[in-house]
Amino acid sequence: MKKLALAFALAVILAAAALAADAPDGKALFTKCAGCHGTDGATTALGNKALKGLSADTIAKALAGYKAKTFGGAKKGMMEAQASRLSDAEIKALAAYISTL
Ligand code: HEC
Repeated sequence: MKKLALAFALAVILAAAALAADAPDGKALFTKCAGCHGTDGATTALGNKALKGLSADTIAKALAGYKAKTFGGAKKGMMEAQASRLSDAEIKALAAYISTL
């Protein structure tokens, strides 16, 4: 029985490791955004606001809003195209990464 319990524990650990490896990488995802927002999130050349300094919560709400077409300013069309391709997990990963910029 002990061996079985051990094998089960190992299977749980391996499954958890596989899940962690599948979590989207916010930093890698942000390379798609850096063209407009800058690698430091501070670029405002397109009339957008700087992302640098925003909280993860604010960013996640903005991205979810662009995706649902319920949020945005005069240039929201640009962001709706970006956000429509993001999954909820990717939005979370991006928001967490950008809030560290
Ligand atoms: C084609 C240029 C472009 C790309 C690529 C782009 N953005 Fe934007 N982003 C903008 C513009 C322009 C705005 C302002 C839109 C508006 O008027 O609502 C904006 C706004 C935002 C806002 C809202 C900021 C605020 O203070 O309200 C967030 C968050 C954001 N972008 C995140 C991202 C993320 C994350 C990505 C990558 C997945 C990305 N953007 C890719 C141009 C871009």
